[in-house]
Amino acid sequence: MTSTSPIKTGGSPTQAGAWRPMRTDDLGAVAEIADRVHEAYPEDPEIFAERLRLWPEGCWVYESDGALIAYVLSHPAIAFAPPPLNSLLGELPKVPTTYYIHDLALLPETRGQGAGSAIVRILLDGALRSGCPDVSLVAVNESAGFWGRHGFETVSVPALDAKLRSYDEDARFMVRPLV
Ligand SMILES: CC(C)(COP(=O)(O)OP(=O)(O)OC[C@H]1O[C@@H](n2cnc3c(N)ncnc32)[C@H](O)[C@@H]1OP(=O)(O)O)[C@@H](O)C(=O)NCCC(=O)NCCS
Repeated sequence: MTSTSPIKTGGSPTQAGAWRPMRTDDLGAVAEIADRVHEAYPEDPEIFAERLRLWPEGCWVYESDGALIAYVLSHPAIAFAPPPLNSLLGELPKVPTTYYIHDLALLPETRGQGAGSAIVRILLDGALRSGCPDVSLVAVNESAGFWGRHGFETVSVPALDAKLRSYDEDARFMVRPLV
């Protein structure tokens, strides 16, 4: 899809231009944003629905004038074990050892205005409250510079190389300590 129009949410609008917790009736709009932002790494709608069911406090959308223009999915997880792309988790670990940011995606017209940084700060707060020692992610789309500005560093883990290539040729595993 190449349209740049915002995506209407299924729910009623909240205040304009703000991150708010994701709801199940946002999932259609979230999948549409994902299709537009991650054309090269498609994931099934079930993936978004599962993450929201498993850890709703880690799932947020950015709503502006009743339209969704960005989302993020995140949850406690096991360190150095990012899930393969487009895979269900089944359940979250009983004893998590990292807080994992699965995906942060803004529509192109929304970028460069601080919305990405605003939600990273919210996620870091949530991760700290969850008791995890660090936050980790797989950086794709040449986004490592953005994550670096938020204290994430690339960690080379040869055992993860094949999995990272399934995301993106230049995908990087990045970690940010919390304590
Ligand atoms: C990467 C992304 C989340 C950044 O969000 P954003 O709202 O545009 O970023 P911000 O406006 O908060 O930018 C914060 C800083 O990071 C910089 N930055 C933003 N994107 C960057 C990138 N891809 N590489 C390097 N620096 C970047 C900005 O220039 C800004 O720098 P400044 O503080 O000196 O002004 C957003 O561009 C996006 O959704 N991209 C497409 C999907 C994607 O790649 N997601 C990440 C998957 S792991």
